[in-house]
Amino acid sequence: MQILSGKELSRIIQTQVKEDVAEWVAGGGKQPHLAVILVGNDGGSETYVGHKVRMCERLGIKSSLIRHSDGISESALLSEIEKLNNDEEIDGFIVQLPLPKHIEVNKVIAAIDYRKDVDGFHPINIGRMTQNTPCFLPATPYGIMQILEHYKIDTQGKECVVLGRSNIVGRPVSILMSNNGYPGNATVTVCHSRTKNLKEHTRKADILIVALGIPEFVTADMVKEGVVIIDVGTTRVADDTRKRGYRLSGDVKYSEVAPKCSAITPVPGGVGPMTVISLIKNTVRAVKGEVYEK
Ligand SMILES: NC(=O)c1ccc[n+]([C@@H]2O[C@H](COP(=O)([O-])OP(=O)(O)OC[C@H]3O[C@@H](n4cnc5c(N)ncnc54)[C@H](OP(=O)(O)O)[C@@H]3O)[C@@H](O)[C@H]2O)c1
Repeated sequence: MQILSGKELSRIIQTQVKEDVAEWVAGGGKQPHLAVILVGNDGGSETYVGHKVRMCERLGIKSSLIRHSDGISESALLSEIEKLNNDEEIDGFIVQLPLPKHIEVNKVIAAIDYRKDVDGFHPINIGRMTQNTPCFLPATPYGIMQILEHYKIDTQGKECVVLGRSNIVGRPVSILMSNNGYPGNATVTVCHSRTKNLKEHTRKADILIVALGIPEFVTADMVKEGVVIIDVGTTRVADDTRKRGYRLSGDVKYSEVAPKCSAITPVPGGVGPMTVISLIKNTVRAVKGEVYEK
């Protein structure tokens, strides 16, 4: 059984990105600048944003963290986005999700200039991803594709089952896996909470991508021998033996499922680290005008 280490791959890509940025700036290019809007003080969001900002610093990328209280109105947030759209110093920006309930997420995402949408959530980027034309890919699916490519996982003609249909993971990853190319060319089934006889689907999977947010949901009886598993789930589970009082749990019951796999991502150290570096890669592509001409 092979461990698909996103942590290791992320380190390799970080070295490449750092060199790439240094070379770009030395050649007279503009230093990339990522802005992050954080609304409220959700614990998970604070952690993710912290990772993003620190990684920017390490790789020679400027970052600006723009904080707002969770009482901010939707219109004030939309004005903030408009400011960043028009700020030539900012190459890319994201609005950290989730947002408070009184703010309509899709309205906020649609307000972002798609040429600065380094999270890849804007309808234009999603549409272009679906057409298999150049775009900013959503960071987590982009990270998953890089894991499959780096570890040379064969995807062509394989049965790929995706558990979960969120706009940020399940749905986009299902599109990428069915696109014509590598990694891709898989035959994809998307399952969700209304799927009947889930186990019948998961047991057919050559590649199983799990993005549910339900700790240890996938058990050994649900998969076949030799399956490749990408476990996206990251849930904080109370654990008194840890200093911080919790541990991170994936959606797969690793101890019993891993022995049946030909390859699997661990949690932590799998998809998580790839998400952050993929966002940074999108930011570098933005400053260089690699996706949309400047
Ligand atoms: N590592 C990373 O970088 C990263 C990035 C993003 C997310 N995550 C993690 O990935 C997990 C999923 O995140 P998300 O944002 O995609 O979650 P989400 O928006 O909550 O979506 C969960 C999906 O699971 C489906 N589902 C729920 N219960 C089910 C069941 N019993 N059987 C089959 N499907 C079921 C839901 O179906 P319905 O649509 O029918 O409700 C939904 O489509 C979370 O743990 C999150 O923290 C990790």
